[in-house]
Amino acid sequence: MENNLIHLTIDGVAVEAVPGSTILQAASAAGINIPTLCYLKHLTPDASCRMCVVEVEGRRGLPASCTEEVREGMAVQTHTEKTAQARRFILDLLLSNHCTDCFTCPQNGACRLQDYCWEYGVEHTSYQGKRVDAPKDVSSPFFNYDPNLCIMCRKCERTCESLQCRETISIQGRGFDTKMTIPFGRRWKDSSCEGCGNCVAACPTGALTAKGAKKFRPWEVKRVRTTCPHCAVGCQYDL
Ligand code: FES
Repeated sequence: MENNLIHLTIDGVAVEAVPGSTILQAASAAGINIPTLCYLKHLTPDASCRMCVVEVEGRRGLPASCTEEVREGMAVQTHTEKTAQARRFILDLLLSNHCTDCFTCPQNGACRLQDYCWEYGVEHTSYQGKRVDAPKDVSSPFFNYDPNLCIMCRKCERTCESLQCRETISIQGRGFDTKMTIPFGRRWKDSSCEGCGNCVAACPTGALTAKGAKKFRPWEVKRVRTTCPHCAVGCQYDL
């Protein structure tokens, strides 16, 4: 090892990475794109979606690249028939509990789940059965929540907890009754939510959409680095 860096190859490209970093971080620094749904760079990985699986030479199974740390001499492949098959399977499962009538979704055309389904050729689910069928929650003054579009990546909850330190959002319930809400049955307008919008920005589907963005399609809005106005610390956001 030179300069305390780890040397590995990703898709045949020689890459150097800081010890302790993950395959996903090393790949991203090298300009190699790995699909993710639950990963957010500022947050501790949740590893719940498994879209980021990769093949590592000499290792059984497909590890999640967002949690697998780099090792000296590692050879990683990010796009193989095996990883594509695994991703198609994950998308198939996600669609088994997700509305596929994208034309009615406010996030149509700017949805990461839709993008991956297109990329991996998954148009419909092969699993028929019960789905979440819950009413939309429009009680927040800042956003709407559609539980039928939620893929339980928990980005909203983790963003609220880690970036905004509010811990307003909580994922509660079991099975089909699991949903994003606030603890103790309080209403959004009585909660500590200040409408920072980080949960909406983090959502990879149309489950959380900003009320104020109604007049604009997602691709008409520009994402900018901004400063949180809620205290004197001046936290910077660029989700
Ligand atoms: Fe790695 Fe979801 S991004 S498991």
